[in-house]
Amino acid sequence: MAINIKNQIFTLHTKNSTYQMKVDEQNMLIHTYYGNRTDDTDCSYLIRMADRGFSGNIPGTDRERVYSLDFLPQEFPVYGDGDYRVDCLKADLGSGVQDGMFFFDSYQIREGKYNIPGLPAFFSSEKSEGETLEIVLKDAVEEVYVHLLYGVFEELDIITRAAVVENRTEGDIQISRIMSACLDLGMGKYDLIHFYGKHAGERQMERNSLPHGITELRSTRGTSSHQHNPFVILADKDTTESTGECYSASFLYSGGFHAQAEVDQFNQTRLVIGIDDYDFSWKLKKGESFSTPEVCLTYSADGFSKLSQTLHQAIVSNLIRSCWKDRVRPILVNNWEATYFDFNKDNLIAIAKEAAELNLDMLVLDDGWFGKRDDDFSGLGDWFVNKNKLPNGISGLSRKIEEMGLKFGLWVELEMVNKNSDCYRAHPDWLIGAPERFESHSRHQHVLDFSRPEVVDFIYDSISKVIEESSISYIKWDMNRYMSEPFSRGASAADQGKTMHKYILGVYELYTRLTERFPDILFESCASGGARFDPGMLYFAPQTWTSDDTDAAEREKIQYGTSFVYPIVSMGSHVSAVPNHQLHRTTPLSTRANVAYFGTFGYELDLNLLSAKEIEEVKAQVEFMKEHRDLIQVEGDFYRILSPFEGNDTAWMVVSRDKKQAVAGYYERLNKVNASWMRLRFKGLDEDQLYKVKWEDKCLKAYGNELMYAGIPVDRDYCNKTNGDFHSVLYTIEAEG
Ligand code: DGJ
Repeated sequence: MAINIKNQIFTLHTKNSTYQMKVDEQNMLIHTYYGNRTDDTDCSYLIRMADRGFSGNIPGTDRERVYSLDFLPQEFPVYGDGDYRVDCLKADLGSGVQDGMFFFDSYQIREGKYNIPGLPAFFSSEKSEGETLEIVLKDAVEEVYVHLLYGVFEELDIITRAAVVENRTEGDIQISRIMSACLDLGMGKYDLIHFYGKHAGERQMERNSLPHGITELRSTRGTSSHQHNPFVILADKDTTESTGECYSASFLYSGGFHAQAEVDQFNQTRLVIGIDDYDFSWKLKKGESFSTPEVCLTYSADGFSKLSQTLHQAIVSNLIRSCWKDRVRPILVNNWEATYFDFNKDNLIAIAKEAAELNLDMLVLDDGWFGKRDDDFSGLGDWFVNKNKLPNGISGLSRKIEEMGLKFGLWVELEMVNKNSDCYRAHPDWLIGAPERFESHSRHQHVLDFSRPEVVDFIYDSISKVIEESSISYIKWDMNRYMSEPFSRGASAADQGKTMHKYILGVYELYTRLTERFPDILFESCASGGARFDPGMLYFAPQTWTSDDTDAAEREKIQYGTSFVYPIVSMGSHVSAVPNHQLHRTTPLSTRANVAYFGTFGYELDLNLLSAKEIEEVKAQVEFMKEHRDLIQVEGDFYRILSPFEGNDTAWMVVSRDKKQAVAGYYERLNKVNASWMRLRFKGLDEDQLYKVKWEDKCLKAYGNELMYAGIPVDRDYCNKTNGDFHSVLYTIEAEG
């Protein structure tokens, strides 16, 4: 059993970790341990009691001054019980009373993993069934209950958490803050690693020593956002890619979030994470409940690569629902950077013709095929084809593309509307924002009110018709603005605090309906690049457009950062034209491919503009990817070797789980005259296995221990090459014999 309970001590075991909590003598649920796997011993001996100056004591401990929530590690701290650190719940429990005091009530163990209605969550699968522990807490006075849900996946090495607040009082309660989980690590001052960014520059890694006080990461934008990913790592000071302890929390939600890490007066670290409480207020009537989104907790005693690999495998096997989760992905060409809005049937077919000759798998038609959309001022909301551009409709075009031996994919942006659209003219009240007030636009567009079921129904019907009539194998679901003025015209004044969360529930509802009705379609989520690269989206769409920045050197950073959480098979990565459209930088075609191989792989350029030499190179790239995509996308574990956040060099590799094959990429940003010697040390190989390593026109035979501990020299003398900057080397490694 992964869950052991003895004397109200709850011990949860995964393959390599143990998580423990206990109902103490005051009937409070305290956290006792999370770390490397131990046995079931009661770890509460770790928790010391002392009379701490001016720390309050809860009722029932009046004669002793040593029991205080001001320093005890807790599973679900709430506002107003003498614990002044960041908490998980603040609610008006009736008549304005906000100070909760929640005691242990009961528990239950269930086989299999719990679900959360309407929200993405890890699920039981053949690979790992999971077990559920539900612990119920009750307020000292009111009939308000908190159900703490723990999903324990022993094999996957992860623990999930969520909370449900239940109102069994006779009146209303009003929740103003509800976090999904708290990780109260007791002793220790950690480094916080997080992934910040911007449009076209997502998931940049940053590592800081946590200061005393509160450090917070949040998105108030209605998406998980470009600016901060809903993922944090707490690590020991000396933790590296392959050594040392670290913990991570990944929040399965695509809307605003709030993560706070607090180091308190006694050097204890507490992390809480949940829905952003800035625009949130949720009234629960008598008998109603509210469920939070889920958090996935992971622990590694062996550094960051192990932590990431655990997450990658768990996401593929027990989070992504699509039948595509463990399949190689089509090599596609997307017309966005090739034509932008300026396309017609003929130039699309010309691109497709070249794609077929180059042995690609799919043509994807991006923005501009619907309504009156010749630029970004109009058309969103009108999901019917623009016959001026495509006289035979999507159905005609998609069939034509299939006749050419390719699959066909289509772009949509279902959550948005332009004021210049039939949809807006018919339903002006479907736009999010208060009537008669300022309505900010962004990219000239507005957000449709997906908190209203009739809006979701309308969009579902219109896009289903297009899909039904055509041969569509892939959909890129974009979302190109943040939410502002979050006001629903379909809700009462008192319920406006629900709008942001109900909007996300509406998005998930539409995803559920479309993915269930069209289960074979490969969905790729997108939000101006990677503003919704989060596990909530991956539950529905097994891949995400990583960034609008397609420059290879920038992508090294973006993909490196993204790989801390998300499997590389989920990263949309394409080779684009040079000079690059975002940076105007020119990188070699080989480097653009060497970066894009470590993702879904595809092209984002007009194939007809390639020179004869480039065409030969692209042919070879497609062949390489077809030969290796099973290893890279399905069979391999990803290792980071050199960080682009630390210097001029980046390196990473994928090693098959049987350690017989690997592919590695090395990338140098700026070339140097008389560069220093450099050795690249591979990772994850079998020490005693003899391998053949091939790169450029070179070949070397060496044992795994030599390749990992001594490394191989990287010849960085590119003086006589025409394009020294942004050079890269791709290594293939195969076991001999
Ligand atoms: C933003 C996406 O990230 C791009 O790839 C492209 O699809 C545009 N939107 C189209 O408007």
